[in-house]
Amino acid sequence: MPANNFSSDPMSHSQDDEKEAAAHASLQFVHDGQIVGLGTGSTASRAVRLLGAGVKAGLKIRGVPTSVHTKELAESLGIPLLTLDEVQQIDVTIDGADEIDPQLQLIKGGGGALLREKVIASASRQMIVLGDSSKQVSMLGKFPLPVEVIPFAQVLVGKRISELGASVHLRVEGSGKPFVTDEGHHILDCSFGQIPDPPSLARLLSDMPGVVEHGLFIHIASVALIAKNGKVLALRR
Ligand code: 5RP
Repeated sequence: MPANNFSSDPMSHSQDDEKEAAAHASLQFVHDGQIVGLGTGSTASRAVRLLGAGVKAGLKIRGVPTSVHTKELAESLGIPLLTLDEVQQIDVTIDGADEIDPQLQLIKGGGGALLREKVIASASRQMIVLGDSSKQVSMLGKFPLPVEVIPFAQVLVGKRISELGASVHLRVEGSGKPFVTDEGHHILDCSFGQIPDPPSLARLLSDMPGVVEHGLFIHIASVALIAKNGKVLALRR
């Protein structure tokens, strides 16, 4: 897997600085005239803000947001938006991740937007995934895998996923009520510890009635930009 280095401030090593550096590096993948998938989360939001500044300076793009939150952010920045129904194809999607492995397999959904994120990424010619150094792992699974379920089946699906060896928790808000996704579903956070064969687990989860989508992104990301030691490493699939 070829790797390129993009320099950033060599003194900047905090997680926030790394997120900003990765977001900056993603701008090179965005060009005038393109339709851009706009990711969700603190890292993707930084990229959206930079794109907003670009639009103000004359960059001609149109965005397709992956969440209500990102839609509102992009609107506030003056980025022209399209719905998925209005586009044939998305040129490039820029999004964050919770874990990125050497094959650019991802865990996503920490921010609860995995369903729309996966739909948008799958409709894109390229998905650029951004991460600070904490996101790079040799094997997926330390971060609890988010699984989006219909509320009706959440107990049954939770039991089935437990039988696969995970510890399963329904995601709740601060109020104690279940977290509700933009599409009206709930999320089970499933701690597997290690996921040695992500494609097999992805198939098992996709085949479970009641599961709407899961946060394993397999063969979807084309480039990972990981900020580390004051540089941004570009990994290609
Ligand atoms: C949202 C996501 C986020 O991209 C992921 O959780 C990473 O978030 P952050 O950039 O805040 O660390 O998948 O559903």
